Order: sequence, then C-alpha cells, then structure tokens
Amino acid sequence: MIISAGNDYRAAAQRILPPFLFHYIDGGAYNEHTLRRNVEELAQLALRQRVLNDMSSLDLRTTLFNEQLAMPVALAPIGLCGMYARRGEVQAARAADRKGIPFTLSTVSLCPIEEVAPAINRPMWFQLYVLKDRGFMRHVLERAKAAGCTTLVFTVDMPTPGARYRDAHSGMSGPYAALRRYWQAALHPKWAWDVGLHGRPHDLGNVSAYLGKPTGLEDYIGWLAKNFDPSISWKDLEWIREFWQGPMIIKGILDEDDARDAVRFGADGIVVSNHGGRQLDGVLSSARALPRIADAVKGDITLLADSGIRNGLDVVRMIALGADSVLLGRAWIWALATAGEAGVARLLDLIEKEMRVAMTLTGAASVNAITRSSLVNEGLI
Ligand SMILES: Cc1cc2nc3c(=O)[nH]c(=O)nc-3n(C[C@H](O)[C@H](O)[C@H](O)COP(=O)(O)O)c2cc1C
Repeated sequence: MIISAGNDYRAAAQRILPPFLFHYIDGGAYNEHTLRRNVEELAQLALRQRVLNDMSSLDLRTTLFNEQLAMPVALAPIGLCGMYARRGEVQAARAADRKGIPFTLSTVSLCPIEEVAPAINRPMWFQLYVLKDRGFMRHVLERAKAAGCTTLVFTVDMPTPGARYRDAHSGMSGPYAALRRYWQAALHPKWAWDVGLHGRPHDLGNVSAYLGKPTGLEDYIGWLAKNFDPSISWKDLEWIREFWQGPMIIKGILDEDDARDAVRFGADGIVVSNHGGRQLDGVLSSARALPRIADAVKGDITLLADSGIRNGLDVVRMIALGADSVLLGRAWIWALATAGEAGVARLLDLIEKEMRVAMTLTGAASVNAITRSSLVNEGLI
C-alpha cells in the first residue's frame, strides 16, 4: 500500500522490476557512501518547529526562468525511463504537466524528444551530456529547440563514468548479462508483458534518430562509454551557447569555486548535485555542499539542488539550505515503475501534502519564507 512518498514506492518498484533494473536505479558508485550520506545527512537536518502563527493560507508556487511552478519541484533527468514503465518518459511528463511542474527529458531517454514534447502542454526541459560526438550534441539541441523545449540542463559531472559495482552483480552488465536479463524478465511477468513486450521499441530514441539505426541496451552502455569526454572545460560551454539561447542550467556542481565559475560564465542556474551518489563515491552530500554554495552565489544565479530527496520534508530542508527549487530523482522513478503516470501524479500529491505540513509547522507561509532559520542550528553540518 502506498502511504508515503519515498519508501513505499521503492518497495513496490522492487517487487515489479527485474533486479537488473531495480538495482540500476537504486545503486550508486563504488561502495555507495555518498549515496547513503545524501539521504541520511539530509534527513538528519532538524526542522525548527514554530506554532501559533496563523498558517491557514500557504503558497507553494514559485517562478523559475519566467516559468510558473505549482511548487518548487521539477523532475530530474533520468535515463532509460521507458524500461521502467511502458513509454515511461511520456507518462512521467504528463504527470508533471498535470501538477504544473517541469519535466526534464534525459539525453538517453527511450522516448525521443518528438514523442514526449507534444504529449504535454507546458514546455519541456531538455538535459544534455557532454559527449565527444559534437555532431550529436548539435543535432539533439536543434531538435529540442524545434520541439519547443525552453530550458537546457547541461550535465557536467560525467566526464567519465563512475563504476557501479551493483550493475555487474545484478546483470545490468558483466558476464552473461543479456542471458541473466532475459531470465529475470521471465520471473517478473507483469513487467515482461507491460514493458518488455508492449513498451517497444526499446531504443535510445534520441540517439537512434541521429545514428539512423535502432540502438538497444548494449549500444547504450557501449556508445555512452565511448563518448564521454574528459577534455571538457568551461571554454567548450561557449560553443553550446551558440546553439542555445534559452536558460541554461549546469547540473553537477558541488564546490563553491565551480559555482562562482558558473556565474562568471553566465549560466542561468546550477544544480547542486553529485548525480545521486552515482559518480564519485566519497564526495560531499548535496545537503552539506549546498549551504557553502548558497553563501557564495545565492542571488547571482538560480540555485537548484538534488540527491537524497525522498519526501516533501526533504524538499523543505533543501530550500532552507538555500535552494530556490529542487529536482526529484529516484523518488519519481520508483513511483513511475509502480504505477506509471498515476504513480507519479500520486507521488507529487504526497510531496505537496508533506511540504504543506512542514511549512505549517515551521511557520513558513510561502516558499520565500523557508530560510535557514527554518532549521535548528541553521542546518550547517
Ligand atoms: C537511474 C538513474 C538514471 C539517471 N540518469 C540521468 C541522466 O540521464 N542524466 C542526468 O543528468 N542525470 C541522471 N541521473 C541523475 C539524476 O538526474 C539526479 O541527479 C539524481 O537521481 C538525484 O539523486 P536522487 O535519486 O537521490 O534524488 C540519473 C539517476 C538515476 C538514479
């Protein structure tokens, strides 16, 4: 039964998904220290309870890049969503649209830009990885523009992939991976029928359109691994600017000096993120990195944050630490895997309800009223 935003959907998703997919979503890099810190250090922040302040009217709305959001939440870019639910990107985008918040399409989605963008009323955000194949980057940006995407989320914390040991254990990669995946699918008939069989094509929609041929899971691993570009530097971002005139958000900032560089470069926003603990294990949790970054650049750039957010209380905590808005990651994938569009819609309602309770009991009637003083000891850890 689904009662809470985070853990109930995770447990339900684990029952439905073949293990190679569940662990691909759930896992992090190396020994998963940062993954755990993200969740634990955020949850440990004590909210400061305040009472008797007439909280009968709450306003969760906010504005980001001239866009109205019903609450300060957007869906983070997640690769391969069409493997977790039938045409998963379209279903999640519809739920976000109904709620009045942005959906971000990953570069490595199954559904291509042209399938998702027309399914929703509000403009979609598009996420781009730094790849050696600049022809692909240019091609995909032009398609995103043509489909009406407004905001570019440029992910910079993957110049090289972090090792995810769980994937080799679970059958996502490693010896006999394809055989193990078929076997696991056979043992999860609901998923096999709904997604495995009827969710096809299981193509990387954006990449296939560029390569001119279908691309499967092996291509995803192979093409991406060959294409990460460790030579990327701030100078290369100027090249992107030529193709993208809309708001540009740099995702994957964890250090205040990099945040200052993003301001100097002229980025419109940054996402304080360690990729959900999936890249360099051992780095700071977002909850610890965010206050330092907010002290350095708040007011000069729009501040978003992700990694470790599992419920509405966590959203309030991240905003108290300095974020203008947050991105949800695993929280929405588990809901999508459990119940598709309806699952993501329900999750967003739960997040809103949890935020309302947290705002009421910390005495914050609007998003702007959530500040460091909403936390005991001002949240500095
Ligand atoms: C299964 C999975 C796939 C992801 N794919 C992408 C992606 O394609 N592009 C990207 O920028 N980030 C990707 N991320 C990172 C998320 O956008 C986000 O930063 C992260 O999930 C936040 O942490 P959380 O899941 O703990 O909330 C992915 C994360 C997961 C769990």
